[in-house]
This record gives sequence, structure tokens and C-alpha cells, in this order.
Amino acid sequence: MRLFRLLLLKRILVIGLLSVASGKEEHLSFRAVPVAATAIHSGVPWYDQHHQAVSARGAGLIQEGNRFYLFGEFKRDHGNAFVGFSCYSSADLATWIFESIALPVQPEGPLGPDRVGERPKVMKNPRTGEFVMFMHTDNAAYKDQAVGYATSPSITGPYTFHGPLLFAGQPVKKWDMGVFQDDDGSGYLITHSGNLYALSDDYKSVARQLVKDMTPHCEAPAIFKREGLYYWLGSGLTAWERNDNHYFTAISLAGPWQDRGLFAPQGTLTWNSQTTFVLPVTGSETTTYLFLGDRWAHPRQNSAATYVWQPLQFDADGRLSLPEFHQSWNLDTRTGRWAPVSLRGKLLNIPPAEGWTPHTDAAGVTDLRSKVKGATLTLPFTGTQVAIHGVARSDGGFGEIQIKDHTGKVVLTSIVETYCLYPEASLKFLSPRLPPGDYTLTVTVLGERFFWQAKRAAYGSSDDFVSVQKILLVD
Ligand code: GAL
Repeated sequence: MRLFRLLLLKRILVIGLLSVASGKEEHLSFRAVPVAATAIHSGVPWYDQHHQAVSARGAGLIQEGNRFYLFGEFKRDHGNAFVGFSCYSSADLATWIFESIALPVQPEGPLGPDRVGERPKVMKNPRTGEFVMFMHTDNAAYKDQAVGYATSPSITGPYTFHGPLLFAGQPVKKWDMGVFQDDDGSGYLITHSGNLYALSDDYKSVARQLVKDMTPHCEAPAIFKREGLYYWLGSGLTAWERNDNHYFTAISLAGPWQDRGLFAPQGTLTWNSQTTFVLPVTGSETTTYLFLGDRWAHPRQNSAATYVWQPLQFDADGRLSLPEFHQSWNLDTRTGRWAPVSLRGKLLNIPPAEGWTPHTDAAGVTDLRSKVKGATLTLPFTGTQVAIHGVARSDGGFGEIQIKDHTGKVVLTSIVETYCLYPEASLKFLSPRLPPGDYTLTVTVLGERFFWQAKRAAYGSSDDFVSVQKILLVD
């Protein structure tokens, strides 16, 4: 186990070290790859057209025409009460437009004030043409769970909430859930603990249950189909803490389902994420199966939680894997092909700053760290985009990033997190592309950390350290 941990640590730090520049010019990705204008960057906050965090946690993604629509939990940075389900759209899966709060807080009922609403998933019903949204509704203590549904004639909403989805007249009293639409248009609901239900033709009720309590160890379920084989992904039961997610396969939705084990290397904790959805993106040449995971950051789930979106790999036996973490990559939605992306730039000198101290890991990785609440690190830059690398560790906390223009006007405020149960050196912040100009970047230690008190245990970081390994001016 110890040896394994060392190997894992080496593997993760090597990815970081390979990107440390010896000179001024550096390539953040170690492969020779094409540079693309847009890329999917995992583990960093994304920003919409208003420079606000893309807040769509526990998301589902559907394609309608040439656009992709992302639905998720719109979060706050404090508390966990339902504040609405957001909808964003994109043509390239990398640049996101905030469309709407597709389903807002209801005046009362299962999604009323001070309730929990999670994991929204939308499917278009082929018979009625309606968009049907499914979600987990609950009370604040997670003791009144049910699957609810809402409908809308247009994809971006507003959706009309109809209350619990009924099966033989009774609510489906489950929490984590997902949906799946088969090739013939039939819709399915899956839930934690391995339950799978066929929906009625209009998707507004459950027609029958196909799989019951297949496994006690499955939350955050997602199903997809590839070449006639169904895949059922799910996480372990550690609330918002990351764990090694696993999967099952079957040739029929009714099963039997075969336990196939983990799909990311053991100990990476699914590259530090929890499954929420898989979208096959089919182009003229091939299909890429896009894994959507959440890197939760309670209580700062609005701004510091991030997305881990990765291209799933398959071998000849249909074995699924995420063998390596692709920091930045793009998916050509016309061809369906994906490729890693190289983020190039120049390293900026980080001036000494009070409260920040150099730190060197056992593996020789060096960064600057601080847990002094209010300690700042300030750096002027001239250009359009900056990237910050940090080393996430089990004692990592939240830091605020602020960018001001030459007049002192704040053009971006963001929160990043450098928490991970194993040391992980990676990109932690990538600013939006700003108009060329003179800017000032400031990193401030917030003196806060990830924590969550769940039913079974408490989870989170042991301290408030913010880590800055290097700052790059992106070309
Ligand atoms: C997780 C679940 C999340 C959220 C969280 C709250 O297990 O996947 O969606 O409900 O628990 O503790």
C-alpha cells in the first residue's frame, strides 16, 4: 500500500514536474499536440460570458442541434439550500453561455425555500417533443428524498415543476439519480444503490422497475451505451469527498450487470472527482464518450467547485478507463475526435510576499504556501490571460484570485481550492481571455477550507493552505 502510494505520488508529481519550465518558455502539457483556441480544462473554475463562475454542479448535458446544453445545480458559496437549476449552452463544450435559471426555487413544496435540489438531468421526449427534467429533491437534512420532475416546451425553460415522479402511485424515494435515453427513445431512471426504472412513454411516471438494489455501494449513477454494451458508473459513499468510482456493464438494461471494478487508477479518487454524467459526442469520424465529474468544494460550491471532464477510453473487451488525467484537451464536435491541448506561455517571477513560505515535498516539488488569513501575493502582468499552478494537498484551503485592470477596476474575482487527499500538482486557475492590457493579479488566502458533515462522517481538509507553484502568462 505504501509502495503504491509512493508510485501514485510519483506519477502525479511527474505530470506537474514535466511542466515546470527550465527557461522562460514552457509547455504545460508534455505531449507535442496542436494548440487549440478553446479547450476543456479540468479542475479549474470556468467562466461564462459575464465572467461569473459556470455553476452547474451534479450536471447533465444534452445535445440539441449543433449546441450542447448543460443543466446543473446553481450553487451559492455558503449553505446548501436549493437556489435553482442553471442552464448553459455551448457549441464547442469549452465556451459556456449562461442561458437561464431553468427551474427556480418554488414558492413551496419539494423544491421550495430551504430545500435541497440536486443532479438535474434533462431528456427530450421523442413522442411529445417536451423537455423533461428529473432531479433529486430533499429536505436540508437529506431525510425526505424523492425523484421529482419538471417539463418545458423549450430547452432553456422555464420548466414547470410537477412534484414527485410516481411509480404505481407512489414517489420514488431515492436520492442520487441519473437518466438514460436508449436508441429507440425510451427513457430510464437510475438511482443510488443500483435501481433502474423504465419510464412511461411521456417520461412523466415510472412504468416498471428493471433492476432493484443491485449494489449498496453506488451513488452518483450514470448510464451510457457503446456498441451494444451498457455501462453503469457510480461513486462510493463519501458524500462530497472524492473516492474511486467504479462501473458495471450489461448487454441488457435488465441485467445481469457485471461488476467491472474501477475505471480510473486506484488511489487517484477518479482523478479527484465524482461521476455525474456521460455524453457520447458523435461526429463524422468517431464518437468520444465524455465523462463529466464534479470536484466538489463545500461550502464554496458556486465558485471553487470545478469540473473534471475527461475522454473515456475503451479496450477491445469493452473495458473502460481513464488511464491518465488530461488537464487540457479539446473535442472537435464535427469529427467527434479529441486531442490534448498544449497551453503555452511565459513564466512570471513571483515576488516575495509576506506570509508565504517556500515548501518542498518529499518528491522535490517546490511551491509557495500560506495559511495566513488575508496574506496576499500580488503580480502585475501585461497580456490577456494568466494561469496559476498549485499543489493540492490534504491540508489545502481556499484562495481568492482577483484581477484588476490599469484603472484599478476589478475585472474578475474567483475562488480556487488547493485541496486533495494526495499531493497533486496541476493547473488551479485560468483566467478568461481579457482584452490586451496591463493588469494586476492578487491571490489572497481566505483562511477557509473544504468541509462537509455528512450522515456517516465528516469530510474535508485539515488546514487552510493555499499553494502557488508557478504563474504563467498565456500566449
Ligand atoms: C453525495 C451525492 C451528492 C450530494 C452529497 C451530499 O453522496 O452524490 O449529490 O447529495 O452526497 O452529502
